[in-house]
Amino acid sequence: MTVLQGKVAIVTGAASGIGRATALLFARQGAKVVVADMNESAGLEVVRLIEQEGAQAFFQMLDVRSEENCAALVDSTLQRYGQLDIALNNAGVFAAPTLTEDQGLALWQRMLDVNLTGVFNCMVHELRAMKARGGSIINTASVAGISGTYGAAAYCASKHGVIGLTRSAALEYGKYGVRINALCPGLIETPMTAGPDSGFNEKMINAGVKSSALRRQGTPEEMAEMALWLASDRSCYATGGQFVVDGGVSA
Ligand SMILES: NC(=O)c1ccc[n+]([C@@H]2O[C@H](COP(=O)([O-])OP(=O)(O)OC[C@H]3O[C@@H](n4cnc5c(N)ncnc54)[C@H](O)[C@@H]3O)[C@@H](O)[C@H]2O)c1
Repeated sequence: MTVLQGKVAIVTGAASGIGRATALLFARQGAKVVVADMNESAGLEVVRLIEQEGAQAFFQMLDVRSEENCAALVDSTLQRYGQLDIALNNAGVFAAPTLTEDQGLALWQRMLDVNLTGVFNCMVHELRAMKARGGSIINTASVAGISGTYGAAAYCASKHGVIGLTRSAALEYGKYGVRINALCPGLIETPMTAGPDSGFNEKMINAGVKSSALRRQGTPEEMAEMALWLASDRSCYATGGQFVVDGGVSA
């Protein structure tokens, strides 16, 4: 049985990593998916894979830093599919680790603009669309949203912000049937941590693996499973929560 039959889902950052895996899983579970990202070619490839499996999707160019882009994302979803039930606000960026004093204002601003303001921009329009009939919003935070991270103060602050935003909005919109939760991944093998420009080196990955109870990195597909549960009616009493999936790092 598919658990998202008849639902319409937006996934931001859907061209890669956790967003890509979630867009594919949501589509396999019956949802029509809006694949939103600033990487058009990789996003179109995700749409192609979804359509190849017989499901429906379209690509929407999106820079989450632009409020106009985020408004257009929700508008085009409603125009195309007539409703919005689920949103995974997941687009995010990381930077090579540096001490707080060396992070610099430009990096600080970039982390906040994409990781925090980007989620806010999307949520504002998603909430307006969902208020009348309910829905589920999942914001990708991180274990860096619930504890400190050596060398990543700006990233960490942005993810703590995502959790505060999630909890506050959950209090406001529960009465409209809109549930809002944060997904908190640990170290997950995606281009963010494994790509050539990721800023992660082997020593850091090994340290992350060693600090996890399961002694390995997670996969994007494992994050998608939690996103699916939060998106579906199976999690109908969950709102305002932080759902940690980190192989036991924070245990
Ligand atoms: N990989 C990890 O270990 C890890 C751990 C905790 C949290 N996260 C979070 O998970 C989310 C997804 O990360 P990932 O590991 O899949 O990374 P990724 O780099 O594989 O994917 C991120 C996607 O976001 C898109 N993106 C970046 N800036 C954007 C913008 N301004 N507007 C629209 N799209 C934009 C990129 O084009 C890319 O497709 C991020 O929010 C990240 O902070 C990742």
